[in-house]
Amino acid sequence: MSETAKIEIGGKSYEFPVVTGAENEKAIDIKKLRGTSGCITIDPGFKNTGSTTSAITYLDGENGILRYRGYPIEQLAEKATFLEVAFLLIYGELPNKKELADFKASITNHTLVHEDMKQFFEAYPAKAHPMGVTASMVCSLSTFYPESQDPNRPKEAIDLTIHRLIAKLPTLAAMSYKNAMRHPFVYPKNNLGYCENFLNMMFSMPTEDYEPDPVVAEALNKLLILHADHEQNCSASTVRIVGSSQANLYASISAGVSALWGPLHGGANQAVIEMLDKIKEDGGDLEKWVAKAKDKDDPFRLMGFGHRVYKNFDPRAKIIKKACDDVLEKLGVEDPSLDIAKRLEKIALEDPYFVERGLYPNVDFYSGIIYKALNIPTEMFTVMFALGRLPGWIAQWKEMVENKEPIGRPRQIYTGETERDYVPIEKR
Ligand code: SDX
Repeated sequence: MSETAKIEIGGKSYEFPVVTGAENEKAIDIKKLRGTSGCITIDPGFKNTGSTTSAITYLDGENGILRYRGYPIEQLAEKATFLEVAFLLIYGELPNKKELADFKASITNHTLVHEDMKQFFEAYPAKAHPMGVTASMVCSLSTFYPESQDPNRPKEAIDLTIHRLIAKLPTLAAMSYKNAMRHPFVYPKNNLGYCENFLNMMFSMPTEDYEPDPVVAEALNKLLILHADHEQNCSASTVRIVGSSQANLYASISAGVSALWGPLHGGANQAVIEMLDKIKEDGGDLEKWVAKAKDKDDPFRLMGFGHRVYKNFDPRAKIIKKACDDVLEKLGVEDPSLDIAKRLEKIALEDPYFVERGLYPNVDFYSGIIYKALNIPTEMFTVMFALGRLPGWIAQWKEMVENKEPIGRPRQIYTGETERDYVPIEKR
């Protein structure tokens, strides 16, 4: 006998099926709610509302668990490469040797972007934020591959678009940085690995040879894996809802880049470093800034703290915090921001305001410190998040399409004026 939930409203009782997930999470299936009771539910920010069922990523917010297709994030971050994880998220299984070789070869051969795209970059002001440039460029890719706009294109064509995106996003990201620096673009090199190629496109200069540091490449590989997916977060939900209208994958991913830009979401990694710099410049009075974060009349929030799902600890933050010490030591980097961040974490986690609300460091709290040590400029931090999140967005979009989910169109409760007649201007 399957479990059901009863709702009583208007003196009538209605029964709805309960859906149980692979990890025993439960949801009330309200597909028939409006048709039977005439009512809808309302839940701003969808804090209690599931938009879909998904087999990609599992989060347990209370126990700090994150798994991609069942594999614990701790193991993937330690043992896998980013392209292996991308393949796992998108196609559902870890690739065997041939699958990985074919996947890598396809991506390697699509890293170039059309030469005409260089003109777009030249039209941007020097200080154009790379997230604005990247979101535009990703959507513009759809104009160079118009066949990608066909919702009924075959699987092979969809795979080609997927590989083009994974191949070209690092190229576009590096071009947005070089453009901002007014430095010459650096072309991708097919003999370099995914992370090494990105670093070369970012930091190579015509005046000198550049050799990607293996420590930097390894740290980048780990950071990209840690950011690769996170179930129905704001940007993934954006990708799914845009894709649900049968907009093409480039347009859907571009929308995800835009959603990620917000400081409450992926933009927090840039906001954390700016916050730490502001605290440092202000004399480093941590108690003062923690008090500001608790003050409801003060708009200041402790950036990099808190999470919609994790109410205990973000497993990614734990891994990144440890990686901070390793990477900075290996690179011989001294960054006072790391010390400030650690002391800030300690003060906050001894403060009832944060503990009672389940506010702990999230993935963005320490990631910027590593990006800084890798010489990634602050305004590129959220672009780095997008590079990592791309395979997750693609996997979420692909699952939505393969499940033939309906176009996303939430309902509302109207609270405006009831019917009234037009008033001629003379009488207003
Ligand atoms: C990411 O969803 C994902 O999975 C996202 C992500 C991913 O991988 O895709 O994990 C990546 O976006 C991480 C989050 C990065 N954002 C930040 O670090 C910005 C700072 N954090 C917050 O703004 C906030 O914690 C959110 C946005 C992350 C979560 O917000 P919620 O779940 O809507 O919670 P809320 O804003 O309703 O806060 C609950 C309470 C409130 O106080 P009360 O009304 O109960 O008195 O906690 C307070 C908030 O004022 N609060 C904070 C705080 N975060 C929440 N107070 C001070 N500092 C903070 N950072």
